[in-house]
Amino acid sequence: MSVGIEKIGFYTAPYYIDMVDLAEARNQDPNKFLIGIGQKQQSVIPPSQDVVSMAANAAETILTEEDKKTIDMIIFGTETGIDNSKAASMYLQSLLGISDYARAFEVKQACYGGTAGIQMGINYLALNPDRKVLVIGADIARYGLETPGEVTQGGGAVAMLLSSNPTVLALDGKSAFYSKNIMDFWRPNYTKEARVDGHYSNDVYVDFFNRTFNQYLDRYNKQVTDFDALVFHLPYPKMGVKALRTVVPQEEENNPLWVEFNHSKLYNSLVGNLYTGSLYLSLISLIANSKTIPAGANIGLFSYGSGAQGEFYSGVLGEFDRKLLKQSVDQQINRRKRLTITEYEQMYRSGLKETADLSINYSDDDSRFVLKGRAKDKLIY
Ligand code: CAA
Repeated sequence: MSVGIEKIGFYTAPYYIDMVDLAEARNQDPNKFLIGIGQKQQSVIPPSQDVVSMAANAAETILTEEDKKTIDMIIFGTETGIDNSKAASMYLQSLLGISDYARAFEVKQACYGGTAGIQMGINYLALNPDRKVLVIGADIARYGLETPGEVTQGGGAVAMLLSSNPTVLALDGKSAFYSKNIMDFWRPNYTKEARVDGHYSNDVYVDFFNRTFNQYLDRYNKQVTDFDALVFHLPYPKMGVKALRTVVPQEEENNPLWVEFNHSKLYNSLVGNLYTGSLYLSLISLIANSKTIPAGANIGLFSYGSGAQGEFYSGVLGEFDRKLLKQSVDQQINRRKRLTITEYEQMYRSGLKETADLSINYSDDDSRFVLKGRAKDKLIY
């Protein structure tokens, strides 16, 4: 019996900024952002969206009424929590009408939460193959206006339905992981903006990739050439380049691992960082945009959550309607309205407020689910 991802859906907010505009506003050479970081555009998340509404918008694209009755667990990976007690999955359950006879909870370890959810989900399905598990990775990446991290912001959600019919990606259970108490990136409770030691975080990321990848190869007696594609958590596209070139020289541009990596970073270069969802947006990007990767391909996935947890695991690409996935994600990305940097700064500042600032008109946010505001400290969707 195999288990894994049966369906995968994506949502991002209906606004973006262009990285050339941002570079000009910040007196930077645009090529630093376009080539040095690898980012072309960045989604901007308005106060009318939070991780719950974004997750609901992503999940709504993939779930049928039958799925909603069969889901036993709703595992919400996020580091952009909306409450210190109540899990975001509770709101999601009622917004989507998922069965009440479910376990619903949140998982936090920086950008690793979605992967933790997947690993927990497949273990459950191995014992309960007739049931389903919904895993979410949803976040808003904020570093602050005019900071070095600003070019690596973004946001959105990926929803994954796990089952014993893994038409997207069958997971073989092979995995290697490594964790250590490290201060490379963290988000204190009193602020919505991340604290980061940027260059150090790059080094730790690559170190954790090498440790987990080599541990995986040793443990399962594998070689780099056993993989048809490697997909990475992509806080920004160049980060994956830095990791991949430690195992395949970048000069080998026709090497399939480089060819497929270039497909896997396309959507991330337009959306930016979505923390828990970033690795899974790279997976979507690979399977939606590559015409060279066949069903049955061996995929390696590197998940990284600052603080820090790394995990390298593997799966086999299934057979499903990849054109439909591409249409749906392209539609999400292409519908976004381009903001000026002044409009973005205004939206960014209003997103820092504890209560959604509805004095600014976000009526062009036509998403199915929106955050309407708060009443007596209760979130209203
Ligand atoms: N043309 C082409 N390239 C240029 C250029 C130009 N005109 N000017 C600069 N560059 C290149 C630089 O050479 C550099 O390339 P390399 O990294 O290959 O050396 C690249 O552009 C970036 O330049 P800097 O290192 O000078 O950029 P910076 O100091 O302003 O900050 C950053 C870069 C550290 C990534 C910063 O954006 C940041 O702190 N981001 C947030 C942290 C982050 O994303 N860390 C990733 C690992 S942690 C993680 O993965 C978890 C997570 O999601 C956060």
